[in-house]
Amino acid sequence: MTKRYRDIAGDGGSNIVGQVQAQQARLRARLAGVRSIVAVVSGKGGVGKSSVTANLAACFALDGWRVGVLDADLNGPTMAKMLGVRGGKLVVRDGAVEPPRNALGVKVMSMDLLLPSDAAPLTWDAPTQDEAHTWRGTMEANALREFLADTDWGELDLLLLDLPPGTDRLLTVAALVPGLTGVVVVTIPSDVSQLVVRRSLTVAAQSRAPVLGLVENMAGLFPGPDAEGLAKDAGTPFLGRVPFDADLARAADRGEAFVAVAPEREAARALREVAAAIRRSLPVAS
Ligand SMILES: Nc1ncnc2c1ncn2[C@@H]1O[C@H](COP(=O)(O)OP(=O)(O)OP(=O)(O)O)[C@@H](O)[C@H]1O
Ligand SMILES: [Mg+2]
Repeated sequence: MTKRYRDIAGDGGSNIVGQVQAQQARLRARLAGVRSIVAVVSGKGGVGKSSVTANLAACFALDGWRVGVLDADLNGPTMAKMLGVRGGKLVVRDGAVEPPRNALGVKVMSMDLLLPSDAAPLTWDAPTQDEAHTWRGTMEANALREFLADTDWGELDLLLLDLPPGTDRLLTVAALVPGLTGVVVVTIPSDVSQLVVRRSLTVAAQSRAPVLGLVENMAGLFPGPDAEGLAKDAGTPFLGRVPFDADLARAADRGEAFVAVAPEREAARALREVAAAIRRSLPVAS
């Protein structure tokens, strides 16, 4: 049997419930200066969530928005690398971590900035596979809560959350983040991806966060069905189609945002249009 917080509240006077509540209150206070929070998700791995997140962050930053990115992928963090802040120093001030900024001013927080580069991934021991899954979820939620409670984002117009693959991840994040503004779902034109992404759209609906729309990434690379039909079936806005462009991957490997270094390319133009569509769906500045 897996214990829940309330089952062990009295354990040894550790007051875990109290600690979690205090952390959740800190988290709420930290996010009070953040106008919109958007999670980028996809049940499927490797479809380009992180690349889309990094480029969207750059699009908004180029438009003068104050942008932050939280890398919610604790085991395979890539945002520090893609946004060019790897090796950046984390400054701790008044008990809060100040995320480093990249060349465009995007603030980035990632597990990658906390761990030595060759550190082993996070693993959680549990007597059975089932429990391992439960504990993984719990530990991830704890780690993310801590991240969000301890990071001083300051005032932001937009905080993007780059989620790891897995249809269940969004529920964890939606439960943690008060007032998640919306969710952007990424897919690629393949049956296999869309099968999983369809489930992600269902999970997104369950999470109560509005689905801002679906992005088709790597368009033209696979012969599968286009995502516009999937969006239509799901009653979700279609945000655009980003073509496959090997230079986009190369830019990410150099820590540069493709939209900034190759703005004339079709993929960059498409990403700007996706950003504009997201912008239109966000609450207006007060
Ligand atoms: N439109 C594109 N054109 C060319 N390469 C792309 C494109 N989008 C993403 N890539 C490349 O595909 C690879 C996977 O992308 P990325 O890491 O963004 O996917 P992901 O969905 O975040 O993966 P994970 O599920 O592991 O988090 C990367 O090497 C990235 O540079
Ligand atoms: Mg990723």
